[in-house]
Amino acid sequence: MKIYVILTLLVSFSSFANEISTEDLRTPVVLTEVEKNMALGEMRLFLESLNGVFKALSKNDYVKAAFHARKSGMVVPTTIRETNPDIINKLPIKMKLTGMMVHQMFDSLGDDLENQIPLDEVMKKLGKITNKCVWCHKTYKFEVQ
Ligand code: HEC
Repeated sequence: MKIYVILTLLVSFSSFANEISTEDLRTPVVLTEVEKNMALGEMRLFLESLNGVFKALSKNDYVKAAFHARKSGMVVPTTIRETNPDIINKLPIKMKLTGMMVHQMFDSLGDDLENQIPLDEVMKKLGKITNKCVWCHKTYKFEVQ
């Protein structure tokens, strides 16, 4: 029994370790310190939105969930474009388009939550949103000039 547990732990640890690379193959995106701070602030807002959506849904509060989703909607890039337009031109086109798509998906999630679509549909949408987070994090990193 003991040896079985140890073997299982070893196998699960080694497959877990395979998932975490020691190489960094991500494409660097060079920004100024201020621009990087802004981009990372946008990221933390994404995480806060997801957190807010999950917590509100756990209380069946669709209105609050919609509010949290919209905080990461198109209002964010619109504000960034007004205050710091240079950053948009520095991002690779695929990164820019994916980022825009995620903001649109949050607005669309907000609409669906207001319309109280079934929870499995909400989960499907959250899965599609987080697919984009995963893809971009695997592909790019920020570097300061
Ligand atoms: C278009 C690309 C892109 C998308 C989409 C994206 N991210 Fe990021 N995110 C990045 C990059 C690049 C970094 C910086 C990584 C680095 O430099 O190591 C980052 C960093 C972060 C960080 C760290 C913030 C900090 O303070 O250091 C968080 C949290 C984060 N992202 C959350 C998310 C979540 C949640 C989503 C999806 C809802 C998401 N991101 C979608 C590109 C993206």
